[in-house]
Amino acid sequence: MWLIKTVLSSLCVSALVCAAPFPALPWERSTAYDGGEFKSLGCPRTTKPWATPREQLYAVTNYYDMLFGGNPAKAFAQWTAKDFINHAPDVTGDGRAAAEKAVDALLSTSKEEIKNVFVGKNSSGVDFAHIYFKGINSHGVGAIMEFWRFSGNCLVEHWNIAEQVSGVNTSNPKAFF
Ligand SMILES: *[C@@H]1O[C@H](CO)[C@@H](O)[C@H](O)[C@H]1NC(C)=O
Ligand SMILES: *[C@@H]1O[C@H](CO)[C@@H](O)[C@H](O)[C@H]1NC(C)=O
Repeated sequence: MWLIKTVLSSLCVSALVCAAPFPALPWERSTAYDGGEFKSLGCPRTTKPWATPREQLYAVTNYYDMLFGGNPAKAFAQWTAKDFINHAPDVTGDGRAAAEKAVDALLSTSKEEIKNVFVGKNSSGVDFAHIYFKGINSHGVGAIMEFWRFSGNCLVEHWNIAEQVSGVNTSNPKAFF
């Protein structure tokens, strides 16, 4: 596999193909089509109902790069369903509009450091993305995990948990992050 990829990238002649951050390889199996939600929750034209794990990893990585890089509106518009299902306790309801309002206030006064991002299936074959990051704001330092369910490479359902880390006494001498 590694050898094939190396040979392929040495043959790479089109700037567009070579620049693709996580190019999909032909033998990578696409995820199952979930036509119902992709349409009914309003996935944007910049996403598709079938996607490989590489395409999903690119989607979620790019989403958080834009979200934390000062462009949350673009992050939502490009990668989330308009009416995505939201379980975040500090957001008033589903969809981009409610989430944008909450993150605009939060992200304008904080800094985030991504620690880990990955995608994968649960044993029912449902695709998820996971992110773990450090958040720093005027209240101190927090450890935050979020996860999203995919339809293709569109983010359709969101959960998160957060833990205050600074100002807390710990029994474990290892660094938190
Ligand atoms: C996989 O995820 C789906 C959607 O959240 C959930 O309904 C299902 O129970 C999960 N399956 C397992 C085995 O955890
Ligand atoms: C941490 O431990 C110190 C020493 O026992 C104590 O004075 C302090 O109140 C504790 N802080 C918290 C946040 O529990």
